[in-house]
Amino acid sequence: MLSDPRPIGIFDSGVGGITIWKEITSLLPSENTVYLADSANAPYGVKPQDEIKEISQNNAQKLVGLGAKIIVVACNTATTNAIDHLRQNFQVPIIGIEPATKPAAISSKTGVIGILATKGTLASELFLNTSQKYKGSTTIIERIGSGLVPIIESGDLEAARPLLVEYLQPMIEQGADNIVLGCSHYPFLIPIIKEIVPAEVNIIDSGYAVARHTKNTLESLEIASNAEQGQHQFLTNANETILNAFLKKVQAESYSIKAF
Ligand code: DGL
Repeated sequence: MLSDPRPIGIFDSGVGGITIWKEITSLLPSENTVYLADSANAPYGVKPQDEIKEISQNNAQKLVGLGAKIIVVACNTATTNAIDHLRQNFQVPIIGIEPATKPAAISSKTGVIGILATKGTLASELFLNTSQKYKGSTTIIERIGSGLVPIIESGDLEAARPLLVEYLQPMIEQGADNIVLGCSHYPFLIPIIKEIVPAEVNIIDSGYAVARHTKNTLESLEIASNAEQGQHQFLTNANETILNAFLKKVQAESYSIKAF
């Protein structure tokens, strides 16, 4: 099999997509990656759709300029608001991430699930179309995670605790047994979330599904790499120290960080 060393391009409104990067590089250790942390434009979730499209287009353009063979939109807000636009404007395959409504609804025993996501994601047509399919059989409690992304970007995760109690408690009181983290930043809050919700409540995110989809796409297009060990470049337009702290949290290796 030929090896394609061009990197997988990944972008997010900052450090959140690192949770997706981790899943991708765990499943695909031979792949090189280039990650754009667009923290200067965070949060995307409160912006109008046209602006999210424009920002996403700029990020994808940059990644294509850096030689990306595929683009992973590691942001639910950008995916649900801009993925069609990106697919119309770029030749490379584009993989997105959406809240895991389907697996959460299908596996719920109480018939009640909670979804925590940004305003932009919950208001999007893509999200509405998916949730509509399950609303007959499942009670879906949607909650905007206002303020969570800026707190995570600041690096002070503990500051999110009171907001998480406010957002998640009503889901638990109404009987939710599955809680969907519909924003790629939120998995960094899982240790705190686990202290708030009962142990039997499942916390579901889409990271592994995105990694699997990326792997299948690279293989079916025959553009996978078979290098010994992938190299990883992180580009940020904000604080390099905070980005580095999040990379340490996921035990990242073989990486460099640069400003863009
Ligand atoms: N990580 C982005 C997401 O998955 C955060 C969006 C934002 O910047 O508000 O939705």
